[in-house]
Amino acid sequence: MRIDVFTIFPDMVSGFAGQSLLGRASAKGLLDMRVHDLREHTTDVHRTVDDSPFGGGAGMVLRPEPIYASVEAADPPRPLFLLGPGGRRLDQAMAQELAESGGFSMLCGRYEGVDDRVRTDLCDGELSIGDYVLGGGEVAAMVVLEAVGRLVPGVMGNSASAGDESFSDGLLEYPQFTKPAEFRGMTVPEVLRSGDHGRIARWRRARALRRTILSRPDLIEARGGLSEADEALLADPDLSD
Ligand code: ADE
Repeated sequence: MRIDVFTIFPDMVSGFAGQSLLGRASAKGLLDMRVHDLREHTTDVHRTVDDSPFGGGAGMVLRPEPIYASVEAADPPRPLFLLGPGGRRLDQAMAQELAESGGFSMLCGRYEGVDDRVRTDLCDGELSIGDYVLGGGEVAAMVVLEAVGRLVPGVMGNSASAGDESFSDGLLEYPQFTKPAEFRGMTVPEVLRSGDHGRIARWRRARALRRTILSRPDLIEARGGLSEADEALLADPDLSD
């Protein structure tokens, strides 16, 4: 799967993409991440990528020419998303959708903005990672790379673990424990040490439900409320630990 990123801070993004899970996925040939430096397509000695806004006002705006030249030279996979707080908000479902697509690209905005012809003509859509304003799209690009990259088939060593985690079923993840069974007086729930896999699965489901109800009731609402089976699990005294 190919993902291209256009930025004026290529080292930031490629450094991140070369590490950990994404780095291993690239080495295995599962991900083809290409980071493009917008400054390579400037024509002046100062490698200027921005200019003052027409109409006046504070700050600088990224010029269209280096962005168009960079994108046209790379011929990147589409859709090409402009990263910015005005875009469609990334969630797990969108990450999954992107992971199942053939590829896509991201353009990192900077400064006060990007010339609007880039947004309306060159890009295919806008993508945001949340309702807050970052200094630029680079961190957002890294968030998208990680959220999507780990869902690409083969990238996670244990493929079952991506399906079991928070949001995959519209619920938060159940709590996890490892050794020791007792730590500073806090014990691991007995059910997890019982070896009874059916009971463990029911306990986990009950705890995922309970945690979601308490922390993110909006997610329960989005699933259409609790099913009868969910209610029964929550009421089961054997799973209350
Ligand atoms: N650039 C600035 N803020 C952003 C956000 N919230 N998401 C994506 N890109 C951004």
